Amino acid sequence: MNNIRLSKSSISDLEKKAVLKVLEKEYLGMGEEVKQFEEKIKAYLKTDMQVVCVNSGTAALHLALSTLGLKYGDEVLVPSITYVASFQAVSAVGATPIACEVNPDTLFIDTNDARKRITKNTKAIMPVHYASSSKGMEDVYSLAKEYGLRVIEDAAQAFGSMRNNSLIGQEGDIICFSFDGIKNITSGEGGAILSNDKKLINKIKDARLLGVEKDTEKRYSSQRSWDFDVFEQGFRYHMSNIMAAIGIVQLDRINEFRNKRQSIATNYINALKNIHEIDVLDFNFCDIVPHIFVVKADRRNELREYLLKNNIECGIHYKPNHMLSKYKVDHRLPISEKIYEKILTLPCHFDLTDIEQDTVMQKVKEFYEK
Ligand SMILES: Cc1ncc(COP(=O)(O)O)c(C=O)c1O
Repeated sequence: MNNIRLSKSSISDLEKKAVLKVLEKEYLGMGEEVKQFEEKIKAYLKTDMQVVCVNSGTAALHLALSTLGLKYGDEVLVPSITYVASFQAVSAVGATPIACEVNPDTLFIDTNDARKRITKNTKAIMPVHYASSSKGMEDVYSLAKEYGLRVIEDAAQAFGSMRNNSLIGQEGDIICFSFDGIKNITSGEGGAILSNDKKLINKIKDARLLGVEKDTEKRYSSQRSWDFDVFEQGFRYHMSNIMAAIGIVQLDRINEFRNKRQSIATNYINALKNIHEIDVLDFNFCDIVPHIFVVKADRRNELREYLLKNNIECGIHYKPNHMLSKYKVDHRLPISEKIYEKILTLPCHFDLTDIEQDTVMQKVKEFYEK
């Protein structure tokens, strides 16, 4: 029997055709398709913010932090329970990620805890849209306003999700998305940065392609800069036309992705509500496009082993970063450490069949009835 997969990309003939078209044009780097993808994201989000596509969500976070001028000695508040990419992006600019507690019901950054960790070196806060939800973001912006911090939203998991009737990315300080293979939409790998800060966006545009001044517009019309100048550190973080071609098609499919992911979440919620050893996170599920479906489970490790034995892949998102060797801290974060013992991610992706999901739910029930 094949494994029931935890997550996967969903690629139709449309994505394949779009890639083939780029291959046939033989202009694979950053050009017209990237421009189109950026315009399409902007139109979809109905935002005034500017959109810059890059080659990963991690690159988006790193570029945001580095163009803000963050450096050694600066501190950034980050929830400890997040993908290590959030922490790596901060340490990549030489700054220190300050691990904060999360709200135990949503796993979103706990702003009361974050407030206690603010020092004269704190420059920014990086809330993470954990499992696509950003319930509590208003508190982050209030705290940031009070202390003059920049907000870099790690919205890697939240493309297509909403909060207070607005799509994520419609407004805010700096928003970073990921389009890696298993995200709500994918461009193979990929990411995007959105902001209304024009000066910052111009710097980001240059920095994504080795700091070459004003190269973006040239590339969009299949040209290159020859007699250029460079003022700042840059990176090879630009998106390619191949990636953008996949992303454009995936964005056209966002409603089908949303419906399917939301219906998977609803099925889980209904099936699991009578199992008192399992808690579902406190999200507004009708607002989000759930990238992952996380539960808090008693005897998590045993349940996980049982599911794996039954060919059901499941994940743990995430080991708190302050428990990793590189990011160890002197203090404890008891809430995050306790939650880490309980969280389990169940299969959730566009191609998950009803039969597969029924099997997952049946096996979870079976485990607790044993
Ligand atoms: C919360 C979070 N931040 C950042 C990233 C990094 O995105 P990417 O894999 O596109 O570099 C991810 C992707 O897994 C993520 O889940």
